[in-house]
Amino acid sequence: MSVGTTLLNKKDFRILMKSTLEDHLTLGHPLFKYLMDENNPNEALLKFTTLQGYQLTKHFLTYIECLFFYCPLPKHKRALLHNMYEEETGRLSNTKNHVVLMQDFIKAIGISDDERDTAVALHQTQALIDYRMKPCKDPELYHIGAAAVLVASEGQNLESVGDQARHNILGKVYGLTEKDLLFFSVHQEEDVGHVQQGLALLADLCTTPQMQAEAIDAIDRTCRLFYGMYQGVYEHFGYDKLDQTKASKDETVEA
Ligand SMILES: [Fe+2]
Repeated sequence: MSVGTTLLNKKDFRILMKSTLEDHLTLGHPLFKYLMDENNPNEALLKFTTLQGYQLTKHFLTYIECLFFYCPLPKHKRALLHNMYEEETGRLSNTKNHVVLMQDFIKAIGISDDERDTAVALHQTQALIDYRMKPCKDPELYHIGAAAVLVASEGQNLESVGDQARHNILGKVYGLTEKDLLFFSVHQEEDVGHVQQGLALLADLCTTPQMQAEAIDAIDRTCRLFYGMYQGVYEHFGYDKLDQTKASKDETVEA
């Protein structure tokens, strides 16, 4: 499949978008071995990582609102309305506004409202926020915003380690209840459908080889920016240097 030169049929384009997403599993980032270490729970790391995630949550509804507002295809506009309604009210999942769900999780791990509200994005986190905002607000770049948000971002919650979802492992390591983890379990379920909707929307929307190539590129870039956000936290805690030292020690032993 040569994307960007010839127009792929919808099925092949969907397969390519999905495989681009699956090629970047962010759970492979070394940060997670520190975050999910059952023998060594690290609450400071969990809190910091969560507050970076919260910076994303705060902007998510704006992306969906813009994608709904500018959606040129009525069938997909209706699907986005459902997505937006759930984000705002939580009524489809019988829960709450999704920002409030995240705030519940933040409280459950011992972060005060003040600490939550004064946390700022690392520059890597801000880069991910900004990259998605621009095309969502520009009808000319709609397909790029849709690919970045509806496929790459909604797709981030679908990963599992073995047969366990990421939040189940977090719950075990940090002693959290199902209620504390509702933000994650709601997304785990819903985002499967949201990614399917995103793929269907893009398959209908991208009618030129260039649009297809730009959508694929947006999925790739967004996934890399998610990876970059985890890298930012990893470096903030000095794990990059720690792992480097470990690796060079291992080499010395082997030599
Ligand atoms: Fe959400």
